[in-house]
Amino acid sequence: MASVLLASNRGPVSYSVRDDGTLDTRRGGGGLVSGLSAVSSQGSAGETLWVCAALGDGDREAVRRGVAEPGVRMLDIDPETYADAYNGIANSVLWFLHHHLYEIPREPVFDAAFRRRWESYRRYNRAFAEALAEAADDGAVVLVQDYHLALVPGMLRELRPDLRIGHFTHTPWADSAYARMVPRDIWEELVWGMLGADELGFHTPLWGAAFMSSASMDTMSGTAMASFPAGSPWRGVEHRRGPGPGPKRTTDVVARPLGVDGDDLRALAHRPEVDDRLARLRAEVGDRRTIVRVDRTELSKNILRGLMAYRELLTAHPEWRDRVVHLASAYPSRQDLESYRTYTASVVALAEEINAEFGTADWQPVLLSVEDDFTRSLAAYRLADVALVNPVRDGMNLVAKEIPVVSDAGCALVLSREAGAYEELREDAITVNPFDVTETAEALHRALSMPAGERAERTKRLAAAATALPPQRWFLDQLESLRNR
Ligand code: G6P
Repeated sequence: MASVLLASNRGPVSYSVRDDGTLDTRRGGGGLVSGLSAVSSQGSAGETLWVCAALGDGDREAVRRGVAEPGVRMLDIDPETYADAYNGIANSVLWFLHHHLYEIPREPVFDAAFRRRWESYRRYNRAFAEALAEAADDGAVVLVQDYHLALVPGMLRELRPDLRIGHFTHTPWADSAYARMVPRDIWEELVWGMLGADELGFHTPLWGAAFMSSASMDTMSGTAMASFPAGSPWRGVEHRRGPGPGPKRTTDVVARPLGVDGDDLRALAHRPEVDDRLARLRAEVGDRRTIVRVDRTELSKNILRGLMAYRELLTAHPEWRDRVVHLASAYPSRQDLESYRTYTASVVALAEEINAEFGTADWQPVLLSVEDDFTRSLAAYRLADVALVNPVRDGMNLVAKEIPVVSDAGCALVLSREAGAYEELREDAITVNPFDVTETAEALHRALSMPAGERAERTKRLAAAATALPPQRWFLDQLESLRNR
């Protein structure tokens, strides 16, 4: 039994089956992993358990062989149910709604096939709720992560009213115009699922406000917000299911802007293998300036318009030709989805076009890597003169926080106004409308031209803002606030 439980689709470890039939274990990095380690090492936390899904065949095999990491429980959900829930609903519908990614003339379509997939999403959420209910001590704290598990808080509340439940959304939240596209009963189920939590966390007050207004829309009949106070944080928001006089519950809606652990990240970025990669990259770049971006090949990251802006920079400001290199990492993501495969191919094609148009015998304008190569990314961070972070919409974007912390000589940050990180970093970043390619090209020019002194000063302040709420603190704050309820 555990007194602190964490639930997320992707867990801290993954397994693959080697040719000889043995299992290879890979530990993931990132904020969640280091944050949870902090929770488990905190004496008073008691037993902790991380519940996650088996994502692929290797993970399923590990579950079947009973190979469990201590403190981790992987759920072997039937593969079809899992695929429908993860690809069919979480990544194709909820992700698209929260990031406003639909091409409206064709999508979204809510038909019978959608309803079947939604049934899988329900089953997948229920599997989590049941596993958590079974493993939680009396009064335990449960921290549920992200849009994959939006129904878990409500389901878990019904199974175990004694638990203290938090849910954190790492994405933006859909504006009301998007929320209204969803069939009313489905949207209500989603919101009601979320409202099972005692606390709903978002990266910025903006996403919290979007949740509040989409949850109190006049189209919502089943879930009534009894009180919708103005301003953030929204403490003690009263709600009740259905219009009748039923019991009211309260939920806090708060912004907790996740940051990075500066010491950890710098230590990672100064390991010998990163030094080696840095030396190799430096040899490729020569004494030219660098514009660095690192993303998953993710539709919302706006990699194509970033490349277009770079092309426009080289056209409008030919003085930068042969004096700058764009280091772009676009590592594979969600390649089961056709739109992601097409997008990745377009990114590769556009980078090749730019190289063909401007490249010379000894200058390749874009160095694109489409591999999941964290060592290269860290080396590129250290080399960054300019960081380009231009998502069309993003919950936070930790890359915008990581590059200023790690860059060796300080970097100028070109940052989208639609990233959650904009809220904290805007004063020292050069901010852009991510749809405005010309503005982005000019921002790159300004960033490349920024005097060294100003760049160093800004980088210092960006790094301070980026590390204001490191993962450990972010986690412990949530635990504390839930325990004090
Ligand atoms: C976003 C989501 C995470 C997710 C990550 C990678 O950051 O908020 O929940 O884990 O993307 O996506 P994937 O589908 O590969 O887990």
